[in-house]
Order: sequence, then structure tokens, then C-alpha cells
Amino acid sequence: MYQVPQITDSIYYVGVNDRMKALFENMWSLPQGVAYNAYLIVDEQTTLIDTVDVCYSDIFFHKLDLILQGRPLDYLIINHMEPDHGGSIGLLRKRYPELKIVGNKKTFEMLRGFHGITEGLHEVKNGDALSIGGHEFSFLMAPMVHWPEVMFTYEQRKRVLFTADAFGSFGALDGILRDSELGDRSAYLREMERYYACVIGKYGPFVQKALANMDKQGLAIDHLCPAHGVVWTPEGFGEARRLYDRLSRFEAEDGVVILYGSMYGNTEQLADVIAQSLSAAGIKRIVCHNVSKSDPSAILADIFRYRGLIIGSPTYCGELFTPIANLMNLIRIRDVKDRLYTAFGSYTWAPAAVKKLIPFAEEMKWEFVGEAVELKMSELSSVLDLSWALGQAMAARLLAPKG
Ligand SMILES: Cc1cc2nc3c(=O)[nH]c(=O)nc-3n(C[C@H](O)[C@H](O)[C@H](O)COP(=O)(O)O)c2cc1C
Ligand SMILES: [Fe+2]
Ligand SMILES: [Fe+2]
Repeated sequence: MYQVPQITDSIYYVGVNDRMKALFENMWSLPQGVAYNAYLIVDEQTTLIDTVDVCYSDIFFHKLDLILQGRPLDYLIINHMEPDHGGSIGLLRKRYPELKIVGNKKTFEMLRGFHGITEGLHEVKNGDALSIGGHEFSFLMAPMVHWPEVMFTYEQRKRVLFTADAFGSFGALDGILRDSELGDRSAYLREMERYYACVIGKYGPFVQKALANMDKQGLAIDHLCPAHGVVWTPEGFGEARRLYDRLSRFEAEDGVVILYGSMYGNTEQLADVIAQSLSAAGIKRIVCHNVSKSDPSAILADIFRYRGLIIGSPTYCGELFTPIANLMNLIRIRDVKDRLYTAFGSYTWAPAAVKKLIPFAEEMKWEFVGEAVELKMSELSSVLDLSWALGQAMAARLLAPKG
């Protein structure tokens, strides 16, 4: 007989899978789809935590009907208002006019702005509690992870923490709800990394504050329920948490991303020489991304993963090659910290690319390594040694003892 997936005997999973959408936030690829997670707690008062993208509201309401069997919905707790989670709130309120909506001050500003809802609200602050019978909730504010109204909700009796986008991954739920039931959780961890780099990226310091707030409360957690991807149990949570801690400190592994653009292959040849040089110097993790072909979300995930970044661009109308300038802007607005950086480029009549790549180090407060190389037309032999030296310099800096 069909069973609605459950976190505990009284907490149901009522999220949905989206394998239709091509790009999350109309930017980030979804090769394995994405899940919008929502949770329903059945007690003296019925309580929903978050909703789903409005495109999936029919399926979502059907799930609620199956569980509630005609009972009203008493509370909606809103951890996050971004429309992938808050999109169905307006319709939900129409279905359950008596529904009380729980959020903080900033939630309610957005509730008015997105759905025109101003009544039936229950405002909470950090540390406040709410009882619905056997279940007791407490609320932890997590502002700017990655929106200002974000909060986490902890259920004390069943030891479940609901964390909005934090600890979320791309990837629909392919039948399996908990990390502990997966044969291999590494795919979700990789997708957590990519989600982090694309969606949370800039807000590492706020993630650190949210982690500290969790620690301060000393929460015992049997299930950690994010708004996307698998639910984490103590089996996998340690690893997920370490990953989150590392990403939000902008700490990276000893590897190098070579990010380049190339119209006719000249700049690309330099990329390959530099990659070979890095390898010869003992660097084991090297990823070359052709900006025109690589998935931008994969590029960002690798930039969050590796400490070395080398950018190459041809000169294009006296400027950087536009796709490189665009990708640099994605890095810029994420305020990526503590990278070792260098640059290379090419031109035919009036060089500009390298001159425009060099100041990126200062702007991002990164260390510039070695001497930038610039190739004129296809005269590769004139810069082979310089390109090799650039790779050697980056490798030496990466492998130098940290201190
Ligand atoms: C549309 C276009 C605009 C260019 N603008 C410049 C320029 O402003 N200054 C310059 O020195 N070279 C310019 N070039 C020449 C390229 O920078 C040069 O051929 C370079 O080697 C191309 O590298 P690639 O083979 O990696 O694409 C331009 C090339 C193209 C196709
Ligand atoms: Fe979000
Ligand atoms: Fe989200």
C-alpha cells in the first residue's frame, strides 16, 4: 500500500521533485533535477514547514490532502521566502483561510510583497518557542543564508532541525529520502557543493554565524531537513557539516582551476602548457575549463574547491573576451576569498587582456603569483618557457608549507 514518506511517525515529507526545469534561478543547470522539500507535522495542531514552487502546487496540495484527511492546516512555518519554497503560500492561504503563518519581521515584509498577506501572522524572534501539542518548536534566526528572512526551525521532541537552503543539494530525490539509505552519498555532497557555490556563495560569514548559533544551542539532531535534496542523519551529517564549514570559510584544496576563453585556440594552447607544467611540478588536481563550453555552475564549484585560479583571455575589441568577463563577474559577486591567482592572454595588434586580468588579484585581495604571460598571434614558441615558469610558480606557491 502506498505510504507517504516519513521522517518520524508524525513528521511527513511533502516536498516535490522538479525534473522539468532547465535552469535553477534561470542560471544553474539541473542535470538530475531538484527537490523542493516541505514537511508536515501532525499533532493537536497541524503544522507545515515551507511550501514548494507554485508550478508544483497541485501535487503538493494533493499530498497535504492525503495526510490531513479533511483536517484543517493550523500553522505554516516559513523558513525561507524565495519563490522555490514560498511560491505556494498565497494558494495555501486560500485553501486554509484560518491558517496562522509563523515567521519573523523580515518574513512578513516579503509575505506582503510577494503574496499580499498581512493578517493571521505569528511573529517569532531568535530563541522563541511554539508548542503544537506533543511537538515543541524553537526558532534560530539565520539571516543572509542567503536571504535576510531565513531562519531554522528545531523540533525538540523528535530532534529534527529544518534548515531552509542550508545543507541543501541540487538533485531530485530518486525514491530515497535519507542520506543513510543511499548506496553512495558522494553524488549529493558534490551537488551540495555546486548548490553552495551558485546559490549561497557570497554569504560564507553568515553561514559561519548560523553554524555558531546551532552550536550555541547545543542541539541534538537525529534528522536535519534542508529545503532541497536528501535529509541528513547522523551517519552523513558530519561530512555535510564539514563541507559547509570549509566552503563558508572559503577554505580550499591544493588544486588549480585554469579558466580560459579562446576563439581560435591560441589562448587555449597556453592553458595546456600551464596545465602540463603544474602537473610536472606535482599538482594532482588540475581542471581546465573552456568558459564557452563548461557549465558555469561547475566552474564556480571548482573555484570554491581549489585554491589556485589561473584565468586566460584573448583580447577582444580592446577588452577581455566577454564570456570571461561575465564569469569573472560571477566570481566577483561571490566575494571568493584567499585564492592564489595568476593570468595569461593573447592578442594580435593591441594587447589588452592581460592588462585587464592582472588587477583582479588586487580587487579580490588575492595573492598574484609569478609573471603573467601574453601570446602574440600564434607565436607560441616565444612564450613557452614563460608559460612553463608560470605553472611552476603557481605549483611552488601551492605546495609551499602553509603558515
Ligand atoms: C572579434 C575579435 C576582436 C578582437 N579584438 C582585438 C583587439 O582589440 N586587440 C588585439 O590585439 N587583438 C584583437 N583580436 C585578436 C585576438 O585577440 C587574437 O587573434 C588572439 O590570439 C585570439 O586568441 P584565441 O585564438 O585564443 O581566440 C580580436 C579578435 C577577434 C576575433
Ligand atoms: Fe533560497
Ligand atoms: Fe531554495
